[in-house]
Amino acid sequence: MDIEGKTIQWFPGHMKKAERLIQANLSLVDGIIEITDARIPLSGRSTYLDKFISKPRLILLNKSDSADGKITSDWVSFYNRQNVAALAVSAKTGAGIDKILPAFRENVLKELIEKRAKKGISVPLRLMVIGIPNVGKSALINRLTKTSSAKVEDRPGVTRQKQWVKLSKDAELLDMPGILSPKYEDQFAAQKLAFIGSVRDEVIDTEFLAYKLIELLTADYSGLLTARYKIEITETDDSISVFKKIAAKRGMLIRGGEIDTERACIMILDEFRGGKIGRISLEKPNK
Ligand code: G4P
Repeated sequence: MDIEGKTIQWFPGHMKKAERLIQANLSLVDGIIEITDARIPLSGRSTYLDKFISKPRLILLNKSDSADGKITSDWVSFYNRQNVAALAVSAKTGAGIDKILPAFRENVLKELIEKRAKKGISVPLRLMVIGIPNVGKSALINRLTKTSSAKVEDRPGVTRQKQWVKLSKDAELLDMPGILSPKYEDQFAAQKLAFIGSVRDEVIDTEFLAYKLIELLTADYSGLLTARYKIEITETDDSISVFKKIAAKRGMLIRGGEIDTERACIMILDEFRGGKIGRISLEKPNK
């Protein structure tokens, strides 16, 4: 991938290692909780892994508190239409978290549970969280395990480092998320990953990224920009003029009245990532 001349490696070494770790743990679990970012439900997934993760999974559209509510529910319907279980959640506010285990019991792992019941087998469901960096894996694990911090005892076949946490009387979670490599399928997907902070900032051209973000927001969410930064946006404005208005309004100037471009770019990206501009979705599902 290439964002303005800076190449981002597809599979850095540590990602390969993480992928091997996921593969090694797959046989220990019944189901997968795959987390994506509700603002980019598609680019925030690692679809290359569909090939080797054959376990039933539930897709969580996390950070739904930061995404456009209507578009998020369109995404849930989109996945459900493809027979893929999906839920909108927020590890930050707790929204939707109580629906995760019922979704496994009543949908994703229903067949397995019935099969086990017929055989008289009574073992807890075992789950694992996976996702690309920064989608909220740790936050979700904390949220899920907050009420039940009891670690499950070591048991044969489970190495000591692996911690299983009891989520309820019938479910346990591997207390170690599987970190996936983002798939930079195209320039645009890569940009969206960079907008939400899933690409290391030092490998991106911040200025280019901030202009691109403003271009997108001006097209789809200009009302949020005008409300947040108290600026007017006219038909003749482009991303650079909108950027200048925002920077000037925030007093981000250097000597001579010039815009402090670097500071303003960082501010805009930070405010977007922190959800301060408003609830924004950067991808819509195909109808
Ligand atoms: P990761 O394990 O997948 O890498 O993600 P992690 O849980 O570390 O979360 C990455 C960032 O996303 C954190 O912010 C976290 O607070 C935030 N986050 C997680 N879930 C949600 C959510 O549902 N909604 C919103 N709005 N944010 C969420 P941070 O600024 O990096 O850290 P912190 O200062 O908040 O701890």
